[in-house]
Amino acid sequence: MKLMRAALALLFLSCLAQAVDPISFGLAAVGAASALTGLLSSYPRLYCYFRDCCNHARVLNSTGDSSHTQRACEAENRMALQVNLDRKLFGQHLVKKVVLKAVTGFLKNQNPKKPLTLSLHGWTGTGKNLVSRIIAENIYKGGLKSPYVHQFVSTLHFAHVVDINKYKDQLQAWIRGNVSVCERSIFIFDEMDKMHAGLIDAIKPFLDYYEQLDGISYRKAIFIFLSNAGAERITQIALDFWRSGKQREELQLKDLDPLLSVAVFNNKNSGFWHSSLIDKNLIDYFVPFLPLEYRHVKMCVAAELQARRYVADPEIISRVAEEMTYFPKAEKIYSDKGCKTVAAKLDFYL
Ligand SMILES: *[C@@H]1O[C@H](CO)[C@@H](O)[C@H](O)[C@H]1NC(C)=O
Repeated sequence: MKLMRAALALLFLSCLAQAVDPISFGLAAVGAASALTGLLSSYPRLYCYFRDCCNHARVLNSTGDSSHTQRACEAENRMALQVNLDRKLFGQHLVKKVVLKAVTGFLKNQNPKKPLTLSLHGWTGTGKNLVSRIIAENIYKGGLKSPYVHQFVSTLHFAHVVDINKYKDQLQAWIRGNVSVCERSIFIFDEMDKMHAGLIDAIKPFLDYYEQLDGISYRKAIFIFLSNAGAERITQIALDFWRSGKQREELQLKDLDPLLSVAVFNNKNSGFWHSSLIDKNLIDYFVPFLPLEYRHVKMCVAAELQARRYVADPEIISRVAEEMTYFPKAEKIYSDKGCKTVAAKLDFYL
């Protein structure tokens, strides 16, 4: 027990110090880490707990016999990601599939050729923010609050067109600075459709297949872009599917993916327009969020009730779901705000 506690303290210290000075501490930590590996490999859970330590993979890798721990961690993280997606995200079978594959595949790859770039598309309230939060929490215990996760909202952080050059320099300096502290940094850009095209061009070099830029490798970083671009197209496809009497769950990625990139690309307002992100194939995955139906809204309400430790009262669930407005006018299938206002509406009933 004493040994365990010492080991924990050491590991914790190594995390802290690595965040401060990766190189010099890294050297000192290797010796300590190799002594710990044997112990830690029998406690993968313990080891995985320290996920807010950016460079853990590097320390363990350098000792050579860590593959067991590494694999145990990967399996556990994959499972946790799946469980969280299943528990919190509703009506998005395509999203679950793509995200699980993209994220676990990328994290497993010790030598990626470029950073992971995900582009999430869909109406508000369909779960884009939720998914980026779940991804962040899966990699860092602190989730969105982790020092290695950075979130930018176009209309908040880059609001004034006149300041575009200042934003560009700032954004590039932030990405460079943060990745040099932690190569596994996560950058989330919300409201991409309102982002100035010039700003997108400014981050483009970081997304490309370069081994290094000025001595820094960005290949382990993760970039997540959120936008409404393409949402109309996605809805149309889902609606056509529904009207032809098919099950929503039969909808496949190949029904959406090519159409989606074309829709995004051709949308002048989407912000992607001038940029060569898509042009140059810098986006690895387009992730389409389907519009949510009445039954999915009910699931959101139930989950929210559960999160607040209330009983899932069917009466309340139906009432909240019925308060949402549904489109198209004739059929009233999809909630126009998805699950977005569920939490606020629920306050009224509790
Ligand atoms: C990291 O990014 C944040 C913005 O999210 C910025 O305030 C900070 O200065 C950056 N850190 C470095 C070292 O560049």
